[in-house]
Amino acid sequence: MAKFVISNSPPLKGSVKVCGSKNAVLPVLAAGILSEGTCVIREAPNLSDVQTMEKLLESIGVKIKTDEDSGVIELYAQDSLNWEASYDLVGKMRASFLIMGPLLARLGRVHVPLPGGCAIGTRPVDLHLKGFVALGAKIEQEHGYVRATAKRLHGARIYLDFPSVGATENIMMAAVLADGVTVLENCAVEPEIVDLANFLNSAGAEIRGAGTDTIRISGVKSLRETDHTVIPDRIEAGTFMVAAGVTGGDITVTNVVADHLKPLIAKLKEVNLVVSETENGLRVNGDNVHLKAADAKTLPYPGFPTDMQAQFMSLLTLAEGTSIVTETVFENRFMHVGELKRMGAEIKIESRSAVIEGVKNLTGAQVKATDLRAGAALALAALRAKGDTEIGDIYHIERGYCDLDKKLRSLGAKIVRVEDPKNQGDCEKNN
Ligand code: EPZ
Repeated sequence: MAKFVISNSPPLKGSVKVCGSKNAVLPVLAAGILSEGTCVIREAPNLSDVQTMEKLLESIGVKIKTDEDSGVIELYAQDSLNWEASYDLVGKMRASFLIMGPLLARLGRVHVPLPGGCAIGTRPVDLHLKGFVALGAKIEQEHGYVRATAKRLHGARIYLDFPSVGATENIMMAAVLADGVTVLENCAVEPEIVDLANFLNSAGAEIRGAGTDTIRISGVKSLRETDHTVIPDRIEAGTFMVAAGVTGGDITVTNVVADHLKPLIAKLKEVNLVVSETENGLRVNGDNVHLKAADAKTLPYPGFPTDMQAQFMSLLTLAEGTSIVTETVFENRFMHVGELKRMGAEIKIESRSAVIEGVKNLTGAQVKATDLRAGAALALAALRAKGDTEIGDIYHIERGYCDLDKKLRSLGAKIVRVEDPKNQGDCEKNN
């Protein structure tokens, strides 16, 4: 397996183009199952998670053509789809569970493995299943699989106990072909939900209210071909914006939607970074900035994104004073703390909060990526640390960042990706 070797780097300077959003393209690919025509998806990022989803879709009979260079994926979900998905593919990536709603809607039955837990939490799917039952499905669980059957799905009024992103997406997709109207309340309002609704509506669905906490879906007979460009990845953008702060550099991220980054922009300004909108993106200037401590509490959108918590913590380890980061979305998303402490960070975990005392310097160390965003956080810290850092298990990072080392090098970072002959273990399950 590969690792990153990162040395203390000069302030990163320059501009970097953000890829299409991982968390938008994965549900959109799954939604392709619902269409009886060919769906063209553009700006798809070249990520291992996308390849996993493509393999899963092909395993149930979806025809796929991918041009990785241009980021264009063509999907054709023929009529004779397989209603069963295999454990080895679904077990690799939790987002695979997003095929359940579309398969149930299209075929009236689906048999998929329950996604396991992962590094950041148990990741239950009870809200997804409650939604399917409300739409008229019969649910059976045994041997780690869930089977759902329904002669015809019908509209329902569903109130989500928690604004779960995945549950909102899965139930919305299941409701698109149901008889009648479904009203989904207390649902997630992330930009990726809006993008999925836009994709579905462009194929003939009738979804209103995506982006608000109440979505209304009027069932239609079928969906047709469409051509959709996914939104930019706000978390990749945020990661590079934080890199400007960690290294005291000056980075412009292009191909971004500033509106999707409001909570992060507010926090970066709070720690004294200069954030400005340019004609083609967002610029973060950390040159000669004395980083100031700040508190952050992760919340569903439009709160501070849990997917930026680890990266922002790397920045806070270098900010003068005491910062408190509270993780309210996942129950175990502080796996990066132990690794940051090995690099000299001063962090104490107290229940769901991490108390960070800023330090002058971090030092390089051998560390491991425990999950996607924790790995990114370690890469950021390593850029500033004195000495060299080796980050193992970077397959976690490569699930969600395309060409992270190449993009960082283009900004002046001293980072190389090397095959690690010693560490040839299998990739563990992804989260
Ligand atoms: C999506 O995961 C994202 N993944 C995650 O990004 C992101 O962190 C998360 O939303 C929150 O924004 C994709 O979109 C592929 P949730 P998802 O359902 O849908 C609980 C990354 O780094 N919950 O909103 O799985 C759950 O346990 C990844 O790119 C239930 O209790 O997130 C968690 O505590 C990591 N029952 C909370 O809700 C359910 O049925 C949020 O989960 C579903 C969820």
